[in-house]
Amino acid sequence: MIMKSRFGNKFIGVFDSGFGGLNILRGIIKELPEYNYIYLGDTARAPYGSRSEEIIYEFTKQAVDFLFEKNCEIIIIACNTASCDALKKLQREYLPKKYPPKKILGVLIPASEEAVKKTKNQKIGIIATESTVSSGAFSRELLKLKPKVEIFQKACPLLVSLVESGEYNSKASKWIIENYLEYFKNKKIDTLILGCTHYGILENIIRKAIGKNVKIISEARIVPKKIKNYLERHKEIELKLGKNKIRKFYSTDLTDKFKILGGKFFGKPIKVERAKLG
Ligand code: DGL
Repeated sequence: MIMKSRFGNKFIGVFDSGFGGLNILRGIIKELPEYNYIYLGDTARAPYGSRSEEIIYEFTKQAVDFLFEKNCEIIIIACNTASCDALKKLQREYLPKKYPPKKILGVLIPASEEAVKKTKNQKIGIIATESTVSSGAFSRELLKLKPKVEIFQKACPLLVSLVESGEYNSKASKWIIENYLEYFKNKKIDTLILGCTHYGILENIIRKAIGKNVKIISEARIVPKKIKNYLERHKEIELKLGKNKIRKFYSTDLTDKFKILGGKFFGKPIKVERAKLG
């Protein structure tokens, strides 16, 4: 007699432009270890942070197609730039037409909800890529949640390259971060959103530069809790998910850097396969 499995066989997909999102996946697995995960990093075309909204949407759509074709039931877009520039359109237009029962979530709402919960003086800072800042998506989300909040955004375009080149602990990183954070000196913010996958890796340096009185909102800590809560509320999705602790890693360019740094950000060595998008 064939025993019917108590669980489904679907994956949770996690997408980022590069491998910064592995830090978020690490947090998600810590919170929800039993599920099966597929990670995709579009390393061949990263960084996304200085690209146009149109191109970011196109690339993200291809990533979503890849992950759904690999049997994902739900995708977390860990990339802030893609969450700002592509997520809403994918959720409203693409998903209902092409994958009606499936879900795509981003990182913007979890980070914004936490920031408005934490701020006491209603002054919130955001550091992110140029594209995230110019999209205004974080501001819209924060103002929707708390119309009185004052928002100060600073694009930090060099930080992704620092992390991707393994320079995340160097004197140069410290100097560059201090310079970027100078912008917040007279703004009296009490909460700072790290609005980019890669900035969690720089949290210690950012913490020293911004001072201990500012609360740091790190997506690697917040997003996993929100996903857990989401799956508890959405049993129709949760029941479809496989629970065999399978982890698969794909990137659009296979380099040693992805394996070495990727392993560091994920916390243990990873075996990466090549993904072809589009
Ligand atoms: N993953 C991007 C983000 O969170 C940073 C890297 C990039 O610019 O592609 O915004």
